[in-house]
Amino acid sequence: MNEREHNMSRNIPKLLDGVSPAEILKSGIETDGGQVKLACSFSVEDTVIIDMIHKEGLPIGIFALDTGRLNEETYEVADAITERYGIRIDWYFPKHEAVEKLERDKGLYSFRESLDNRHECCGIRKVEPLGRALAELAGWVTGLRREQSVTRTDLAPIEIDENHGGILKINPLLEWSEEQVWEYAKIHRVPVSRLYDQGYRSIGCAPCTRAVAPGEHARAGRWWWENPEHKECGLHRK
Ligand code: ADX
Ligand code: SF4
Repeated sequence: MNEREHNMSRNIPKLLDGVSPAEILKSGIETDGGQVKLACSFSVEDTVIIDMIHKEGLPIGIFALDTGRLNEETYEVADAITERYGIRIDWYFPKHEAVEKLERDKGLYSFRESLDNRHECCGIRKVEPLGRALAELAGWVTGLRREQSVTRTDLAPIEIDENHGGILKINPLLEWSEEQVWEYAKIHRVPVSRLYDQGYRSIGCAPCTRAVAPGEHARAGRWWWENPEHKECGLHRK
């Protein structure tokens, strides 16, 4: 049996409704036994998960993709998280040759010109480094929530990630609402990005993310020039 067949044959636990995020995390790491890390964008979802990992003493590392276009506020909260929890963040950068070629050939804002150009930039700055980060892992944890997007309605709390060699993908906050996440963050005084004070409700790259008006969808500020069904960067596209 090769590694992929081994991965596909594992029994993914069937979790009951109402199971807590901490229990989802524990079931996920017990299912595999190999190294698991949180993919951290420093959104409130991700910093809440870091707090849960810390409180439960779970053996889950943290990695982050530095696209080269992140907000200053994202680096500030990353620094605050490192200080508060005494953890190391494994940063991954894009391949410099690919970024240099993209910027020389197409300029600094090619992603605004077409969906193909946007996918090209996300491919270079996010998807390729994600592949390298996941290559050494048995599973990854994300801050995905079902209500975030039409592209996220059919996810499971623990699933096999066929896009990344059949490793586990663990989504502990899948069923939580935005309100539940903020309630946890406030009760536990979790460090959160200052961008939220400026009206942001989703955190991504600086030129592709903006604050939203009251009543607008939380992800309306992501790639605001595109239709909702296109609003994935490739990290989670199936
Ligand atoms: S995206 O596909 O639209 O960019 P989103 O910003 O909603 O994703 O984040 C969903 C989850 O993807 C985060 O909770 C986190 O687990 C992961 N993620 C997104 N961006 C990054 C990043 N730059 N580094 C690491 N993980 C990320
Ligand atoms: Fe490039 Fe924008 Fe995608 Fe960031 S979100 S990688 S800047 S297209």
